Amino acid sequence: MTRTAMALAPDDSLDFFVDLHPPASDFRKDVLDGLAARPRVIPPKYFYDADGSALFDAITATPEYYVTRTELSILERIAPEIARRAGIGAVVIEPGSGSSVKITTLLRSLDEPAGYIGLDISKEHLIAACRDLSEAHPGLFVGAVCADFTAPVELSELDMPAGRRLVFFPGSTIGNFEPGDAVRVLKHLRQWLRTGDALLLGADRIKDPAILTAAYDDAEGVTAAFNLNLLKRIARELDSDIDPADFRHRAIWNAGKSRIEMHLEARRDVRFSVSGQDFSIAAGETIHTENSHKFSIESFSGLAEAAGLEVRDHWSDPSQHFTLYWLERGAEA
Ligand SMILES: C[S@@+](CC[C@H](N)C(=O)[O-])C[C@H]1O[C@@H](n2cnc3c(N)ncnc32)[C@H](O)[C@@H]1O
Repeated sequence: MTRTAMALAPDDSLDFFVDLHPPASDFRKDVLDGLAARPRVIPPKYFYDADGSALFDAITATPEYYVTRTELSILERIAPEIARRAGIGAVVIEPGSGSSVKITTLLRSLDEPAGYIGLDISKEHLIAACRDLSEAHPGLFVGAVCADFTAPVELSELDMPAGRRLVFFPGSTIGNFEPGDAVRVLKHLRQWLRTGDALLLGADRIKDPAILTAAYDDAEGVTAAFNLNLLKRIARELDSDIDPADFRHRAIWNAGKSRIEMHLEARRDVRFSVSGQDFSIAAGETIHTENSHKFSIESFSGLAEAAGLEVRDHWSDPSQHFTLYWLERGAEA
């Protein structure tokens, strides 16, 4: 990270704001390459413009999306234990922070936390969430970094409090990555940890496919709107006449890969262009937009170990639907 990339938020309500938002050319390239590939695939990080982030928040409030309320219930239960381990004056760093809802529970339980750094690819949403957090915690050092964590993000140049770091990665965002990519992301997070620091990570469990598919295809259609918003974003930002009404949302349990897949399926034969490039998609063909891998304790621990992280402890809800892991630096993988 270069110093020229750093900028103070306009109203100075944050202690720092670093803008490393990927350039628009990345979005264009990934969409053009992904639509030309077979099967067609667009990385899920592109869901998260301002509308996509708001729709994700709405998903977390649907009755079918057990993930958020289950993870919060575990967090509330283990809060004293987390506070004891983190000690006085911890600095919390939250990649994929979104609306920072869970952090409120975590910060409330910690002993005089010294700082909070939110990091997310969704710029406006990140700034708004960090400003809200700052207002709710007067005196807490609050910084925001807009960046893509699939590439390494260097924190060493940031002027932040010196306390023990607690990297908080909730929401099973790690499940969005194929195993090899998940290990790469975990290695990036490991780089932020020094001796004595820890990573608290939430990962979703394998469970009844009926519960899983409902969570990704709610009756009200909020997840469908979230998936289709990707096409609205393409139309708006990439000079495209793609029509979201030509596609429908699909959520499929892939048992062989232990993951829910989200797709956009063409309702009819469709022709459209993106940034001057023409595409045709046959009725029934899909664009694969997201994977949400589900884990056993063993399968997640294997990924962590491959990234040079040691599972020191883990906590689940009584139904074993979700697990929070306490990880520390292990031997270099
Ligand atoms: C599944 S949501 C989880 C949000 C929140 N942490 C929670 O637990 O509810 C994923 C979050 O990660 C962010 N995100 C997704 N891909 C990202 C990437 N490659 N780099 C940075 N942030 C990313 C999204 O903007 C979103 O806020």
